[in-house]
Amino acid sequence: MKGKCALGVLVSGNGTNLQAILDASAGKDYPAEVRLVISNRPDAYALERARKMSVPTALIQHGDYPDRGSFEDALIAALDRASVNLVVLAGFMRVLSPHFVRRYPNRILNIHPALLPSFPGTDAIQQAWEYGVKVTGVTVHFVDDGTDTGPIVLQETVPCDHLKDSLETLEEKIHSVERHLFPEAIRLFAEGRLQVTNRQVLIGKERT
Ligand code: GRF
Repeated sequence: MKGKCALGVLVSGNGTNLQAILDASAGKDYPAEVRLVISNRPDAYALERARKMSVPTALIQHGDYPDRGSFEDALIAALDRASVNLVVLAGFMRVLSPHFVRRYPNRILNIHPALLPSFPGTDAIQQAWEYGVKVTGVTVHFVDDGTDTGPIVLQETVPCDHLKDSLETLEEKIHSVERHLFPEAIRLFAEGRLQVTNRQVLIGKERT
């Protein structure tokens, strides 16, 4: 990869993860930069965050397309026009089909607010809380054809204490881990240090 790794970030909501990535990429030594932010929802605050930092945005709404395939083709066209090296799903609330996923093999990262393979899908923090786990956490993984099933890049644990925590305080703790784990995983990808063998992600040493 010549120069910085170009990121295309897909969002649907508040964009706190996008903000963490934008803040990290403002650092001189960070090896990636956000080239394009795509939202499927016009009211996503994430769009505002991108605009504030002069990052190009696009609104691509699934309702404007006759089917999933043509919606995904529009995403692909926008990402390719921006010459994106890595697609980052930062709270993108739309399932992407194999048609999209196979276009970017091991080049799509997602963040999930639980320790996969536990609690995939939506409302993961609440699922873990209600289940009564003592430890939960955050997972960054490559995206494959399944829902939250791709090769795991990084995980970090968060203790869960039903006496001291509430669902809200647990959510805060999870989100605060997300804010450093996602930029770190993106850094590893951008530095060419991630190698996927079978479904295991090997992390190479830092080059000095
Ligand atoms: C995060 O909790 C992330 O783990 C999940 O969606 C949420 C997005 O939040 N995939 P934000 O839009 O980045 O604030």
